[in-house]
Amino acid sequence: MTEQLRGRDFIATQDWGNDEIEIALETARELKEKFRHGESHRLLPDKTLFMFFFDKSTRTRNSFEAAMTQLGGHAHFISSETSQISHGESPKDTGIILSSYGHGIAIRHDLVPGEGNTFMREVAKWSDKPVLNMQCDIDHPFQTLADLMTMREIFGNDLRGRKIAISWAYAPSYAKPMSVPQGLITLMTRFGLDVTLAHPPEYKLMDLPLHQARENAEKYGARFEIVDDMDVAFENADVVYPKSWGIESLFHNPEEALEISKKYQDWICNERRMSLAKKDAVYMHCLPADRGHEVVDAVIDGPQSVVYPEAENRLHTCKAMMALTM
Ligand code: CP
Repeated sequence: MTEQLRGRDFIATQDWGNDEIEIALETARELKEKFRHGESHRLLPDKTLFMFFFDKSTRTRNSFEAAMTQLGGHAHFISSETSQISHGESPKDTGIILSSYGHGIAIRHDLVPGEGNTFMREVAKWSDKPVLNMQCDIDHPFQTLADLMTMREIFGNDLRGRKIAISWAYAPSYAKPMSVPQGLITLMTRFGLDVTLAHPPEYKLMDLPLHQARENAEKYGARFEIVDDMDVAFENADVVYPKSWGIESLFHNPEEALEISKKYQDWICNERRMSLAKKDAVYMHCLPADRGHEVVDAVIDGPQSVVYPEAENRLHTCKAMMALTM
């Protein structure tokens, strides 16, 4: 295994070069094979990962914990509410002290625009061990890496000319973070996909990832366009990725945000919309999905859905990144 990535933080895919992302994907592929065949791959024996959660999780928490166990190490689950962070302990003190106890710090801090990424970068400034982003306000790099791995497994490594439709969809459950669509537009424009982003006017993404996506598309010869019509986005797509996200200025005001979202209840991924995409198009979602709102059961449970292999790839990509960096 290459040593060139040892000690590196993984806070945004944009911080890593394409060649480094390729190393991560190849390592994930190899570790997936070993996992499938029951071959031991204890690459981090006796190492400790500290996992800070400021938000709930099923896939991220359990893929990280399982990955550390299978790599021969151990992951500690820490809720921000039951740690001294809830009393205001600084990211500096947290970073210095936890990095002196173990070998990596992973953080999920995704619910408040302007906070999570800043917090992680401050921890990383003071930690002498890698800091891993389990989802912030700007990016969800472990998710989008697993998504890229999944698309390559389906369509092959060369994704140039393939179209991905990343669309807002209605969800009444809660104001979901903006980091998945933002992470997708920045990463997929670097790996050849033509990206069409669709959302109602209130659901504009943050300026930084929009700027990065435009620059990446220019640099890597991909297309990046924004439309306000889910049907237009789905037309001729190879991959559809419809999911909900919140309004940047309204994360502190969920009632107002929910009222606005009700205007767009017809932004749902259904069979009619799937028929606008290519015949062999796949449906993706990072999960959890609001069934019956973001997507109908016939699509998420249907033959074009790849949500379960996509979720499984969270384990393999997470394991690869920890084995390479920690
Ligand atoms: N996709 C994802 O991050 O899932 P969890 O919120 O369950 O971790």
